[in-house]
Amino acid sequence: MAAFAQRMKTMEGTAAIIRGLFGTMNDPGVISFGGGAPAREALPVDLVREIANDVIRIDSRGVEALQYGSVPGLPDLREAVSTVLLAPKGVTADPSNILITSGGLEGINLLCQLFIDPGDVILVESPTFVHCVEIFEMFQARCVSVAMDDSGMVPEDLEEKIKRHSPKMAYLIPTFHNPTGRTLSLERRERIAGIGSAHDVIILEDDPYRDIRYSGVDLPPIKSFDKTGHTVLASSFSKIFSPGSRLGYVFASDEISSKLLDAKTATNSHTSMLPQVICAEFFKRGYYPSHHDRICGLYRERRDVMIDSIDRFFPEGTERVFPDGGLFTWATLPCGIDTTELLAESLANPDVRVAFVAGEGFFIEGGGMGRDSMRISFGSVPPEKIRVGAERLGRLILGKLG
Ligand SMILES: Cc1ncc(COP(=O)(O)O)c(C=O)c1O
Repeated sequence: MAAFAQRMKTMEGTAAIIRGLFGTMNDPGVISFGGGAPAREALPVDLVREIANDVIRIDSRGVEALQYGSVPGLPDLREAVSTVLLAPKGVTADPSNILITSGGLEGINLLCQLFIDPGDVILVESPTFVHCVEIFEMFQARCVSVAMDDSGMVPEDLEEKIKRHSPKMAYLIPTFHNPTGRTLSLERRERIAGIGSAHDVIILEDDPYRDIRYSGVDLPPIKSFDKTGHTVLASSFSKIFSPGSRLGYVFASDEISSKLLDAKTATNSHTSMLPQVICAEFFKRGYYPSHHDRICGLYRERRDVMIDSIDRFFPEGTERVFPDGGLFTWATLPCGIDTTELLAESLANPDVRVAFVAGEGFFIEGGGMGRDSMRISFGSVPPEKIRVGAERLGRLILGKLG
């Protein structure tokens, strides 16, 4: 057997953590607050059925959907990103600077192709989204964590870590952060864009939850404050349309966009045309606004039930995040309860059987960080099940406190 490339060794640990974290999510006997998938009721199945039928019936659109496409992606879809998704958020984006990717993760991957050599440092939030750490490790980057508080990444610590580690890139999930549900404040958005420019560091703004806001006030992306092209906005259609379609996009400066086209060509030529055509039609036919209202209403109800249930059933002293959007909250339990042990007990106990993701795996620094915390995903669980699951889990936690 030929030797595997060194990069497969670098990412082994994180890949195993991810398998461990998400291994139990699909057991039908479990109420799962574990996965980050959208609700099945949030998938526009009827609309896609209608569009797909039409697309295949109309010869020119059918051929377009099944033929090779252009590297940057379907013009109508890039136009929809610019006018429907970015312009209302205060971002002026020429469609020629938008690349359609195969899911949000491909955008992250392509940016690593552009900027990361083995040994380069990437700064990440503490905690962060482990799938991206896996990508960074695939490129043999060294990840260094930056402190977070309730208002997101702490700019003073970002600057301090930039001075100490000379990173190529800082990776942030500024809106309804995965795993914590927190949102970076307006003031910090502007400061972080400025820090990227001042220190010549790429600010990789991964923002797939931004459009799932159901309370509070909309905040402009970090990219809207970028004056030098150092911020790159990567996002996804996974939470607002369909994750199985594997569609995402990157919006970047002229210089970065042109290199992204080279990397995309070398990777897979272009993103699959059939999902691009269907998704573009979904926007063109004007279906997005009402679909968006419907899914935000659905997630708002689930958020409210989850927060109410945590407050009601979890022990006093539990801290939790109240997210204004997205699919997650983050709870920290009192008395140092170990959530990895709690998860094992929950799954083994036939009267509980509730899954969540234990907090420890989201901290790259290890050392027990996040051991008393948990990511709780409410997006894909119907309200009545949320209440039952939280009550069962709360009872188990209270029992441990004696
Ligand atoms: C923070 C973050 N970035 C990227 C992604 C990946 O999105 P996609 O499914 O479009 O690849 C996710 C998905 O859960 C995510 O939570």
